[in-house]
Amino acid sequence: MSPARIVVVGSYNRDLALSVARLPGAGETCLATGRAASHGGKGSNQAMQAALCGGSVAMLAAVGDDAAGAAALAMWRQAGIDASAVVSLAGEATGSAIILVDARGENMIVVDPGANSRLAPAHVAAGAGLIAAAAVVAAQLETPVEATRRAFALARQAGAVTLLNAAPAPDAIDDDLLALTDILAVNAVEARALAGDASPERLAATLLPRIGRSLLLTLGARGAVLLRKDAPPLIRPARPTEVVDTTGAGDAFIGAVCARLAECGEMASALDWGLAAGALACAKAGAAASFADRAAIAALA
Ligand code: RIB
Repeated sequence: MSPARIVVVGSYNRDLALSVARLPGAGETCLATGRAASHGGKGSNQAMQAALCGGSVAMLAAVGDDAAGAAALAMWRQAGIDASAVVSLAGEATGSAIILVDARGENMIVVDPGANSRLAPAHVAAGAGLIAAAAVVAAQLETPVEATRRAFALARQAGAVTLLNAAPAPDAIDDDLLALTDILAVNAVEARALAGDASPERLAATLLPRIGRSLLLTLGARGAVLLRKDAPPLIRPARPTEVVDTTGAGDAFIGAVCARLAECGEMASALDWGLAAGALACAKAGAAASFADRAAIAALA
């Protein structure tokens, strides 16, 4: 296996998706019209999309020593993802998620982190060799911030680009982690949680000065905006799609951005690939199960 160009530090969850006519309110019970178990977790989903785009990918993650953990390792192996530094923790349950998807394709997700919450800086340090060879190191917020900080510090030493996808939406974000982040990627919900409002002006004034290079704001059907410290904003339109299930569409976007960035270093092209991958992921049910391959993404980008 050639050294990975993209290292993803992040979660794996076993997803259980339940279809509902509409998302329930507080205190309400509703009957599901369908169910599907599949591979998920924001970190793993992003790694899978990057690999489908043709990227060479390594995963730094923690799973339990249970059937779900074994299935995750088998999936990564089959996808050609280097999982040699993934830790399998004795007595720990692999992360899981319950996902409700309504008739319009909108979702609600609750994650039980399990082994993801035990990913430690020492586990990441054991994968330092992988990070040293990477062009892009990506992380999200489903695994401990201390582990991500260690990974990004190693990435900085190696000259790799660090990309933090601030998902799930945090109440606040660690300043040291932001200082080690080159590209911060948020959707409107995450932007509002971090900056109070999701307008590009507000983000440029509050969040952009705290990070290394640029802020990537995704706006669903309205596309994406890249706010840069050293250049005017770059605005790209969304690709047309039929929305069946939005689960994992944001992960498809990030995974494709990482793959394209590692391949050509061009943010504009990376955004186009991300928007194409996100649109294609919306058109099918499931998270990683809905992701398109390189040819389909390149054709829509
Ligand atoms: O972004 C979608 C993912 O969020 C799901 O796969 C679920 O596991 C949660 O991590």
